[in-house]
Amino acid sequence: MSTLKIAYENLQASNAPFEAEIGKAVDRVLASGWFINGQSVASFERNFASYIGAKHCIGVANGLDALTLSLRAMEYPQGSDIITSSNSYIATLLAILAAGHRPVLVEPNSATYNLDASQLAKALTEKTRAIMPTHLYGKPAAMTEIMGFADEHALDVFEDCAQSHGAKLAGKTTGTFGKTGSFSFYPTKNLGGFGDGGAITTDDDALAEKLRALRNYGSHEKYKNIYQGVNSRLDEIQAAILDVKLTHLDTITAHKRELAQIYFAHLPPQVVLPLQETDSFDVFHIFAIRTKQRDALRQFLSEQGIGTEIHYPIAPHRQEAMQEHLSGEWPIAEALADSQLSLPISFATTQDDVREVCAAITVFFAS
Ligand SMILES: Cc1ncc(COP(=O)(O)O)c(C=O)c1O
Repeated sequence: MSTLKIAYENLQASNAPFEAEIGKAVDRVLASGWFINGQSVASFERNFASYIGAKHCIGVANGLDALTLSLRAMEYPQGSDIITSSNSYIATLLAILAAGHRPVLVEPNSATYNLDASQLAKALTEKTRAIMPTHLYGKPAAMTEIMGFADEHALDVFEDCAQSHGAKLAGKTTGTFGKTGSFSFYPTKNLGGFGDGGAITTDDDALAEKLRALRNYGSHEKYKNIYQGVNSRLDEIQAAILDVKLTHLDTITAHKRELAQIYFAHLPPQVVLPLQETDSFDVFHIFAIRTKQRDALRQFLSEQGIGTEIHYPIAPHRQEAMQEHLSGEWPIAEALADSQLSLPISFATTQDDVREVCAAITVFFAS
């Protein structure tokens, strides 16, 4: 339980409105005595596929596995080049490496924070097989341009939708553009479980079949293994919880979008706001502002009892774990890492909280 007046996130409070319904769903799983690959997973997979508008949904253990298995299923030659953005969360890069490939970075657009499609040509090599754009902070990436480039160069696209449940570009939901969409249900996500969870969406029947086996030791049939798979299953309890929360996802999204509008209306001009575009339905997993005085502002807000986060303080190419895999300069990713600040925008955050955060930020810049 946070001691802050306005917590960045308070999962207990965010989940409280759904607790009774979730309790009943969990009780049903306990009473069934069936905990892996049962009816709850099948039901959630059906409902999530339908929500996203994809033909198939394959539940997996987490978002990282969703990305890794998507790539592994393709069986590209080992050491293929996979393009992603230089400011994504580390998981996107780790998935590419775990599948035996090389992450090739492209800078983000400095207004949208998503992969800058105009830079793709520079990153293309003979070994490029795919692009893995992240819909960072819940804002759809430039999918029209990315899909156009991919078509032109016979590349596959795998969307990292870990932060974009229900986000849409020109009415089309993220997770339906590429070959697969990879989702995370980490507890703080817009659709968050009570533990780890993930899912892959796809319209490709054969790929869906293969992914169902890959997540389950490479097996469709007990003790018959056709692929060298992994154990990456979504469990029944998480699926039952997610199925309940999915029915409330539109309410959660609407709440976050309303809070975002208060930020847009009341934050002072000294901070850089997220870009708003008419054809982009952003779901504000994160409300990201930028200021050169980020660290001082964060400290000031903390003294006022307001919690904030940074997504992410170290650019991927600066991470120790990436030193042998990435070399080069990505100044936009670095500038974002030095200036980004995430403001409270959870389901438990109230409109008054947001007004108070805006007022505190205004005071900071006035002094
Ligand atoms: C952009 C992005 N990609 C991938 C992941 C990985 O998801 P998980 O933590 O469920 O493995 C996350 C979540 O933290 C994420 O934010």
